[in-house]
Amino acid sequence: MCGIVGYIGKKEAYPILIKGLQRLEYRGYDSAGLALINSQGNLNVYKAKGKVADLEAYCVGKDISGCVGIAHTRWATHGEPSSVNAHPHYSASGRLALIHNGIIENYLTLKEKLSSRGIAFQSATDTEVLVQLIEYIMTSNDIGLLEAVQVALHQVIGTYAIAIVDRMHPDTIICARQSSPLVVGFDAEDNFYLASDASPIAEYTDQVVYLNDGDIAVLQRGQKLHVVNLDNVTQHPKVKQIDVTLGQLEKGGYPFFMLKEIFEQPDCLRDCMRGRINADRDKITLSAVIDFREKLVSARRIIIVGCGTSWHAGLIGKQLFESLCRIPVEVEYASEFRYREPVIFKDDVVVAISQSGETADTLAAIELARKAGAFVFGICNAIGASIPRMTSTGVYIHVGPEIGVASTKAFTGQVTVLSMLALTLANERHTISEERYKEMVVELTQIPDKMEQALKTNEQIERLAPIFTYAKNCLYLGRGYNYPVALEGALKLKEISYIHAEGYPAAEMKHGPIALIDSEMPVFVIATRDKLYEKVISNIQEVRARGGRVTALVTEGDTRIRQLADHVIELPDTLECFQPLIASIPLQLLAYHIAVCKGKDVDRPRNLAKSVTVE
Ligand code: G6P
Repeated sequence: MCGIVGYIGKKEAYPILIKGLQRLEYRGYDSAGLALINSQGNLNVYKAKGKVADLEAYCVGKDISGCVGIAHTRWATHGEPSSVNAHPHYSASGRLALIHNGIIENYLTLKEKLSSRGIAFQSATDTEVLVQLIEYIMTSNDIGLLEAVQVALHQVIGTYAIAIVDRMHPDTIICARQSSPLVVGFDAEDNFYLASDASPIAEYTDQVVYLNDGDIAVLQRGQKLHVVNLDNVTQHPKVKQIDVTLGQLEKGGYPFFMLKEIFEQPDCLRDCMRGRINADRDKITLSAVIDFREKLVSARRIIIVGCGTSWHAGLIGKQLFESLCRIPVEVEYASEFRYREPVIFKDDVVVAISQSGETADTLAAIELARKAGAFVFGICNAIGASIPRMTSTGVYIHVGPEIGVASTKAFTGQVTVLSMLALTLANERHTISEERYKEMVVELTQIPDKMEQALKTNEQIERLAPIFTYAKNCLYLGRGYNYPVALEGALKLKEISYIHAEGYPAAEMKHGPIALIDSEMPVFVIATRDKLYEKVISNIQEVRARGGRVTALVTEGDTRIRQLADHVIELPDTLECFQPLIASIPLQLLAYHIAVCKGKDVDRPRNLAKSVTVE
């Protein structure tokens, strides 16, 4: 959470910083700020509570000149959202300004030490301690900024991606990383960019370096990028090419990124399968499985770890691996797994799922699994993020940058990769017949077309949405593969419309939630035609008998449920195991349209952030 961006070069920094913050706003948006050093050597710091647009409004009429600057969009951890607590924070003398993403865990100890030496603090943040500490070390030891940063970071416990400017040295930005992402971009014209991810940089250059933990980068005008570690040993991080296109970072005519991303899903899944499923549609090739065949095929057990939507995808993965590959699977919240002393065997395969590849709890779960000697397989979207770099191998979902905070296309991308992985392992382990394997591969390739059909429900859902805006609580019911779809549908609604919603296995409803059902509570049932169809019809009857209002997702042509439900939404038929890829679409649209009807900021729901880099 929190997004950081910086620029030093020949151009005016302000527009680059503002645009960069807008691209990073998905990481947090309760306050924002920037620091610029102008040509007279003045360090101007501007901060505002609220979104980046509020910062821009605040900067009108101010001196925003300068070719060097840093900027930050915040998701509060220590200290309420306010302009005082917004970054950049500056040092006591006003000489240094610093931005930070992460948490300084020992900030209170450091703060007490600095306060006892007469340093006054302005904010309630952990971050301010860093900038004060660096200046204190600089002045009391009479050393330069780089050395002071190295000494300070040796004293710090926690996570950080930081960037610092010094008004006495306006030709340099220093940045450093420990467990929070940081990318540095550069071009041949002596411009340097830094950011939490590549999206603010992609417009200007495709040459980037993803810093590693412990790296400190010196971005100095007229010099090549210089990277050292905390002990001043020169590092040689690899230069990578970014492949994000500008179109992927813009809304493309849609009012919100979320809607754009919902509609992109058919193409995203085509991209996800491209080059992995052959033209004859009878073979899936995942290079990660070729390279580590033995480890994966002989897995004694699979443990899936993830958070939020990624955890929901994991629940679908469990059913796929168990039914197709006959491998036992456990699905764990990464945040619970990491603190639970789990039993991990050396022949376990731990599958870590994460859109951002930066979720702190998932990273910690991977670390735990690695220490226990398990083989760790990553399923990630963000290219070059921490998770793909720290796992033994893995598969990118290749759905392009996801900007809307509520995950949509990443979810269906994750389920598609899990489907391809399960089919590959099942084929290798001979737990399904060759014929069945081929039928399923063909069906998987047809999913994007069926998604397009499912997206045609948009208008119907837009018409229905106003009916549900009054609701205080909603229930989502599904069974089998559709149970995680119910969980995900409920999560989408909670996240962006702030209506309380619960996903439940339909048959479990009678063990509790049934007590809540009355005519005020909308009940959404995923009732597509599968082996549990008849049972789900009984569950719908149970809801109806208590006056509940049912909206059902059904397979096209279904006439039975039409007689029972208040509303039906028809979906194309597919194999039961791929149904989540289709059924999640109307639930994403439903959450979206309800939130729009309620006037909510769909892409930036309150209190949430897209990338949760704190535990
Ligand atoms: C946050 C996001 C969710 C996401 C979860 C896990 O809570 O708001 O949309 O599912 O983090 O993120 P990851 O990047 O690890 O998939």
